[in-house]
Amino acid sequence: MDNGNGGIVRPERFDEDERDRALRPRRLEDFQGQEQIRANLSVFIEAARARGESLDHLFLIGPPGLGKTTLAQITANELGVDFKVTSAPALEKPKDLAGILTTVTERTVFFIDEIHRLKPAIEEMLYIAMEDYELDWIIGQGPSARTVRIPVPPFTLIGATTRAGMVSSPLISRFGIVQRFAFYSIDELASIIRRSAAILGVRIAEDSALSLAACSRGTPRVANRLLRRMRDFAEVSGDGLITDDIVRDGLRRLEIDELGLERYDREILASIIENYAGGPVGAETLAISVGEAQDTLEDYYEPYLIQAGLIQRTPRGRMVTDKAYAHLGFSTRVTPRDDADADQRLPF
Ligand SMILES: Nc1ncnc2c1ncn2[C@@H]1O[C@H](COP(=O)(O)OP(=O)(O)OP(=O)(O)O)[C@@H](O)[C@H]1O
Ligand SMILES: [Mg+2]
Repeated sequence: MDNGNGGIVRPERFDEDERDRALRPRRLEDFQGQEQIRANLSVFIEAARARGESLDHLFLIGPPGLGKTTLAQITANELGVDFKVTSAPALEKPKDLAGILTTVTERTVFFIDEIHRLKPAIEEMLYIAMEDYELDWIIGQGPSARTVRIPVPPFTLIGATTRAGMVSSPLISRFGIVQRFAFYSIDELASIIRRSAAILGVRIAEDSALSLAACSRGTPRVANRLLRRMRDFAEVSGDGLITDDIVRDGLRRLEIDELGLERYDREILASIIENYAGGPVGAETLAISVGEAQDTLEDYYEPYLIQAGLIQRTPRGRMVTDKAYAHLGFSTRVTPRDDADADQRLPF
């Protein structure tokens, strides 16, 4: 959808991850950051392997691009088992889920992305499969219909979501392991950038990896995306080495500021300040006023704005913080005698 905002970088994850394939870590030891998740998972994987059993069902929660799909794939690799992937919106009818469950083999890792979007009938079917390793299947129609129970080999379900709040508690309670992702630190992102640069054969100065990491919204997918763009700039306007100058100039061209905010983030903040007196404003209203899908606003933009301390979530809606006013160059408190920065006054 064109919202009239021009060439804003959107989180187009599918295209991007396709190109990113080579950069995606395959083993747990290459997965940077998320220390606690990694440490826990390595114990659970080792124990399941030693017992020759399927790993307990695993639920991964976190904003887009932090490594949920990557970690699911790594889990299957480390267990040395099959990996099957689907996403909840692709499961339209119970037979879609049954079709997959009848092909799983012993200890298969079955990954369902966006699990908060499961339809109720499919969720019901999944409960039984997760708990009893059986599939309820209705044969026939009307009064002669009967249910047959088909056994499913013990498998591991990995469910991922950006919205834990939208997942029903009966579903959550069936996962033996629940892990929440946190945004990555600058050092962790810098090491992801250095690893990706080595794989892509790109040279990047030590400091430049850090400055790029600082503008990567705490998100590996963004870090890899910025690295690829900087490689373009370095190849076209330099000698291929990504330097501080290349990074500074490149980020300016991409309209990414020193906090890693994209133009869209700034528009969201400006809209709350200018149209809603700093908030509170509901997500739905805000999405309409900035011309963005509410899902994208809530999944992608908002978590980082909250993490960066620019927005607060209150029961009555979103509010910008003093830091947001300062970052955008608005003055928070405008008194009648405060003429010095009159041109920065808020229109209310
Ligand atoms: N811990 C990590 N170490 C190195 N690279 C990572 C890590 N986590 C993610 N990446 C990189 O970031 C990209 C995006 O990660 P991934 O697709 O796993 O995110 P996701 O959480 O599944 O996102 P979404 O919610 O959009 O599905 C991967 O292709 C991978 O290259
Ligand atoms: Mg994913």
